[in-house]
Amino acid sequence: HLHLGIVKQRTFAMLKPDIVDKMGQVLKLIIQNGFKITKLKMVQMTKEHALEFYAEHKSKPFLPFLIEYMTSGPVIAMELLADNGVAKWRELLGPTDSEQARKDAPGSIRARFGIDKSFNAAHGSDSCTAAERELYIFFPTSRIAQYESPRSTATF
Ligand code: PPS
Repeated sequence: HLHLGIVKQRTFAMLKPDIVDKMGQVLKLIIQNGFKITKLKMVQMTKEHALEFYAEHKSKPFLPFLIEYMTSGPVIAMELLADNGVAKWRELLGPTDSEQARKDAPGSIRARFGIDKSFNAAHGSDSCTAAERELYIFFPTSRIAQYESPRSTATF
């Protein structure tokens, strides 16, 4: 068949510590929106782990706060697969600031589950390059699994 410009992409998604108790609702939304959850785990990040993950924000004034928040409890880390998965997940997330999201994208995850730009419920990779880097931090064997798993040839 023809898949004009539509590519199956994997992306990295993470539910932040304060919404882990609502993961049932969030996972339901993710599945209803056509994503396949291909990997999932609950992890307590160390400070070093969080600093590596947010390396691009190392000079931002909010970094210490962000690290404190992201290590305050376990997170849910996921690999999601969908057509145009990277952009599709960012769209379901909504704008970074949950207050903005409630104005511009009321059905989005950040609008529904987040508070403001600091407590914004969930994270999503902003590019395929970022997705590969972030997936590798949380799922270090993912490249091997992707190509060796019999599921990699299945029609999702
Ligand atoms: S920036 O400056 O444009 O790169 O930042 P932005 O893309 O808006 O946000 C990047 C991540 O940093 C978090 N963030 C904050 N945390 C705490 N306090 C403040 N003020 C703040 N501003 C932004 C924001 O939630 C983003 O986290 P992720 O995990 O990428 O969603």
